[in-house]
Amino acid sequence: MSGVNEIRSTFLDYFRKNGHEVVASSPLVPRNDPTLMFTNAGMVQFKNVFTGLETRPYSTAATAQKCVRAGGKHNDLDNVGYTARHHTFFEMLGNFSFGDYFKERAIELAWNLITKEFGLDRNRLLVTVYHTDDDAFNLWKRIAGLPDEKIIRIPTSDNFWAMGDTGPCGPCSEIFYDHGEHIWGGPPGSPEEDGDRFIEIWNLVFMQYEQVTKEERIDLPRPSIDTGMGLERVAAVLQGEHDNYDIDLFRALIAASVDATGVPAEGDRRASHRVIADHLRSSAFLIADGVLPSNEGRGYVLRRIMRRAMRHAQLLGAREPLLWKLLPALVQQMGRAYPELVRAEALISETLKLEETRFRKTLERGLSLLSDATGTLGKGDMLDGETAFRLYDTYGFPLDLTQDALRTRGIGVDLSGFTDAMERQKAEARSHWAGSGDKATETIWFELKEKFGATEFLGYDTEAAEGVVQAIVRDGKAVDSASAGDEVQVVLNQTPFYGESGGQMGDTGIIATDNARLDVTDTQKKGEGLFVHAATVAEGTLKVGDSVVLTVDHDRRSRLRSNHSATHLLHEALREVLGTHVAQKGSLVAPERLRFDVSHPKPMTTDELQKVEDMANAIILQNAPVTTRLMSVDDAIAEGAMALFGEKYGDEVRVVSMGRSIEGPQAGKPYSVELCGGTHVNATGDIGLVRILGESAVGAGVRRLEAVTGEAARAYLAEQDERVKTLAGALKVQPSEVIVRVEALIDERRKLERELSDARRRLAMGGGQGGPAGDVREVGGVKFMGKALSGIDAKDLKGLADEGKASLGSGVVTLIGVAEDGKASAVVAVTPDLTDRFSAVDLVRVASAALGGKGGGGRPDMAQAGGPDGAKAGEALEAVAAALGG
Ligand code: ALA
Repeated sequence: MSGVNEIRSTFLDYFRKNGHEVVASSPLVPRNDPTLMFTNAGMVQFKNVFTGLETRPYSTAATAQKCVRAGGKHNDLDNVGYTARHHTFFEMLGNFSFGDYFKERAIELAWNLITKEFGLDRNRLLVTVYHTDDDAFNLWKRIAGLPDEKIIRIPTSDNFWAMGDTGPCGPCSEIFYDHGEHIWGGPPGSPEEDGDRFIEIWNLVFMQYEQVTKEERIDLPRPSIDTGMGLERVAAVLQGEHDNYDIDLFRALIAASVDATGVPAEGDRRASHRVIADHLRSSAFLIADGVLPSNEGRGYVLRRIMRRAMRHAQLLGAREPLLWKLLPALVQQMGRAYPELVRAEALISETLKLEETRFRKTLERGLSLLSDATGTLGKGDMLDGETAFRLYDTYGFPLDLTQDALRTRGIGVDLSGFTDAMERQKAEARSHWAGSGDKATETIWFELKEKFGATEFLGYDTEAAEGVVQAIVRDGKAVDSASAGDEVQVVLNQTPFYGESGGQMGDTGIIATDNARLDVTDTQKKGEGLFVHAATVAEGTLKVGDSVVLTVDHDRRSRLRSNHSATHLLHEALREVLGTHVAQKGSLVAPERLRFDVSHPKPMTTDELQKVEDMANAIILQNAPVTTRLMSVDDAIAEGAMALFGEKYGDEVRVVSMGRSIEGPQAGKPYSVELCGGTHVNATGDIGLVRILGESAVGAGVRRLEAVTGEAARAYLAEQDERVKTLAGALKVQPSEVIVRVEALIDERRKLERELSDARRRLAMGGGQGGPAGDVREVGGVKFMGKALSGIDAKDLKGLADEGKASLGSGVVTLIGVAEDGKASAVVAVTPDLTDRFSAVDLVRVASAALGGKGGGGRPDMAQAGGPDGAKAGEALEAVAAALGG
């Protein structure tokens, strides 16, 4: 007997040996198909290779593809648990030829695998072909040696496979396994075909056409092959089981749930164990691929699956959240084949636990309301829509949960009553939009939100994706199309473009179809959940309903990521260096730099800034993964997440952690933990480097830091380095000697300045020898020294006057300094023996008056004044002399 893991690897090894490239499963959220909710077949990732739009370095491939069929077109959710072969999550094994081999080789490869490698009994096998496909009929006959009655021609769409309304398609041939007479049912095409005896295990699609529109079908460039084998089904066959839930993998999961609840696997609660095993798989894989429970789109499908499982956990009597406890069993079974499960284990576990903890509170109340409302109802009755809506709206019961809960009693739900109740509530909400002020002009966004639901944001995981245009708004009005030159706002069902929030600027990039291109200049969030792309149509025409390829400007987004993550690191470093009073007061995450405002009462010192920068860079060098988890606000804060006070958070928040604390009581714990909806680097090392440019004040008690990261930081440092080199060149020293050299130059300059001033003084006072005798005369019996000086600082005049007094012994000194701009300063000094006869203050006023000035002041032995008219210096001296001679 082969286990699921062995069967999977046997399949892939077989095709590898036969020249196929083994390609990893693509994510459950399709990257290349906007209309598809989840990847639901192996060929989804190759869609564009079949049509020739995309080429790969190989022409044949094999995959084990994870698939989800819940929500959207293929929805198996309602049946899961009650049947032998319905799953929300399953694996599809497939081999593909892109214009390489066609029918013959495909049939040969398939037949050899199942009969030789898998060793299935050929007598139990039969096949179907499309009724007109004689080629396939004859090939089966020749290659497999099947008798005519085991090659059944089927005229219906069952044997014509199409991915959807459009896309690659072609006739197909299915391989069936006969589980034996003990099970009721007939071969395909027979009246009993719906029985469970003959089970399809493998579908070979001969991809020949592309359905371009509903009416038009063209030939594919090269006929190709797409096959799909349900791993769970073939495992059942190989393990001698009829029921998929009896294969080893499901037995292990069910054993875990039996173990945790003490309720036996078989018996009344059989369906509940199966629902839980199945839903655990889809929930875990969806979360690992970036889907998180929400009230919109894919997230809502996940929530429905999770809540349905949780009701069954409750039916099993679980008093505590159950699903997360079963996760290790799933990781054990599937973690080797799908390492993403191991990588995301913590996130999956927490998400399951949180959703179940929160939902349990309302689940019981809702169930008791449901039991009251249906007490008198019996088989064939309907629950009124109003109650179903109340359960949905107030108790968080997805409609299918209510339907599932009533299923065993044969009670239905009045769906039109449910829709009416929903409509009434929407009308009520609408009446609130027409409020006042700005909101009223934004009504269009609320209308679009109501019509289409929130935009699904794919940008945490990808920067390129497809989307469908839901609305084009020009000048505030919805229009059907836009053409070259138009400036519009575009709303799509999903987008990888980040809408500006939390300080991080919106993304820019390109929206393109085959014949139109729009340059997206900004993305904003509007109407509570819409992502609005502001764009200019560069060429062609864009219409509502178009499928488009959205490509975020990768380089700009990378810089935004770095700057945002660096902001978190700086925030934590600031708290460590300055204290925990530091709280974020605002931030701007732009592509070229980041700006971060924090509460702190005084300027930061150079030393503090350096420490902050060093710490942030130490965490960058750790190159530790940046992890994101979803939790309740309270749990997040309990874990130490820094929340922005006053910020509005939903019930659940993203918690972004990065780095490990190096020392202190937090050593080894995450360094930075913040509630944040932004986009971040994958590992701190991606930031490269952070460099603080400066710090300034932006208001009372708020300081602003500006910084650059990555290439911008490198470029900044390179520029600084260049400056140092240029400087060193000019100074003719090595860069390492620049500081010493500049300090020496400054010293030298100071010395020279001093020397120059001395020299000037000496010159002014008549040179070193001989003294100032030439300027001294007798006036009215006292010695008078009068000089007009240029090139002497006013502040030096007093010193010179003192020197003058000393050289006179007894007398009056008057010095007038004339500056370059022509203004004059006058100083009068009187030796102590003469101060009872002359006051320096009176004399300086005389000089000042002559210089066109007023006043002057000082003491009787030394006074100073000024005047605008330096040209009158000589007259001023004479005026003082005259005053002495008086
Ligand atoms: N694409 C084919 C299927 O899903 C193989 O059945």
